[in-house]
Amino acid sequence: MKLADPPMPDELDPVERVSRDELMALQLERLRWTLAHAYQNVPLYRRKFDAAGVHPSDCEELGDLAKFPFTTKQDLRESYPFGMFAIPRERVVRIHASSGTTGRPTVVGYSSKDIDVWAEVMARSIRASGGRPGDIVHVAYGYGLFTGGLGAHYGAERLGCTVVPVSGGMTPRQVRLIADFRPDIIMVTPSYMLALLDEFAAAGLDPRASSLRIGIFGAEPWTERMREEIEGRFDLHAVDIYGLSEVMGPGVANECVESKDGLHIWEDHFYPETVDPFTGEPADSGELVFTSLTKEAMPIVRYRTRDLTTLLPGTARPAFRRMAKVTGRTDDMIILRGVNLFPTQIEELVLRTEGLSPHFQLHLTRPGRLDVMTVKVEARPGLTEGRAEAGQALRRAVKDTVGVSVEVEVVDPETLERSVGKLKRVIDKRDN
Ligand code: DLL
Repeated sequence: MKLADPPMPDELDPVERVSRDELMALQLERLRWTLAHAYQNVPLYRRKFDAAGVHPSDCEELGDLAKFPFTTKQDLRESYPFGMFAIPRERVVRIHASSGTTGRPTVVGYSSKDIDVWAEVMARSIRASGGRPGDIVHVAYGYGLFTGGLGAHYGAERLGCTVVPVSGGMTPRQVRLIADFRPDIIMVTPSYMLALLDEFAAAGLDPRASSLRIGIFGAEPWTERMREEIEGRFDLHAVDIYGLSEVMGPGVANECVESKDGLHIWEDHFYPETVDPFTGEPADSGELVFTSLTKEAMPIVRYRTRDLTTLLPGTARPAFRRMAKVTGRTDDMIILRGVNLFPTQIEELVLRTEGLSPHFQLHLTRPGRLDVMTVKVEARPGLTEGRAEAGQALRRAVKDTVGVSVEVEVVDPETLERSVGKLKRVIDKRDN
């Protein structure tokens, strides 16, 4: 594979080299500041802390955070648009908003110092991915209210890279620019990377011969199998980046290219917990909960992300805990005739099945009284015979590993809709 050297110790931010104890001392100091700042300046936090009978001064050690109430998406919606801001609106230099498939979008704000911290953690993330000053970075995350494009952009500039701010869409042009500008790094959703792959073929270009050495993929769940697929097809290092608007945007956590073993959480700015999604009690694996440690404009306390993962000790950055690749969101979980499943489980199995491409959709219907899930999956180009067998193999694999029967429809290559940003995997046609 093309080279992507990890940073040398002297290239890291000084904080990336501290001990766990030093990091925890810094976290406590920042946590106490955050709780006081939120309580003093955001009526919602004051109300919620008072109702729970806690005061910022009750936080004497990191474990005391668990006494404080959670913040939910609902809280943010009810504060629409600017009710969560802890500084005067005039000092807010940037607004982003999450798409919000239902109801009001969630609005977030940044002070100029917040934008600075965001650029710093994004630069750190790109460097952890193997990026260096002087690299050319093709940013195909969407620019706009979505945090992906601008977040990646500021981080790449901060690291000293040459940024190509393409945004999403106009796929043929993306491939032309990659061929002409010869970027080292691409930042894009994994699903849109697959659309770019199709376009390489359509343009008669060999993706393995492209200049790209590193892909920094996030904004949606993707699996180890998808990593193998993309790395194999493009001859690059595929690295996972995580984040969410409510906490900052991309760059909350990132994999290190030398280990690719889950995402190091930049814990000097974002304090993670995992809780049982049903009871809210601490659990090693479960729903990820974040508290910001340095955010001025919109501090966030114990935000329930709905993302499911496991917290693990640090490796490539020993003081920083890792999160395992996200398996899914609590609200993406499909309950099919009593069996819980996530689209990532199907992704793993599709990619293991000979003859099937990574392009698939999950269609949910209720023809009678029972729910039916149909996996519509494209055959690999060139597979003319053996489609029925490939479909059978997938059906068996789902039955054996997930424990539920599904329908499988193997369709022609390039017939399923491609994503430009975040992919919509599940098409729910049950009327309820
Ligand atoms: O998606 C921020 C981002 C942009 C992250 C670009 C990475 C790259 P939101 O639109 O607020 O922000 O969506 C956040 O996306 O709660 C997860 O459910 C999902 N998500 C983000 N990164 C990953 C990832 C951006 N690496 C929501 N793996 C989060 C799995 C991810 N899911």
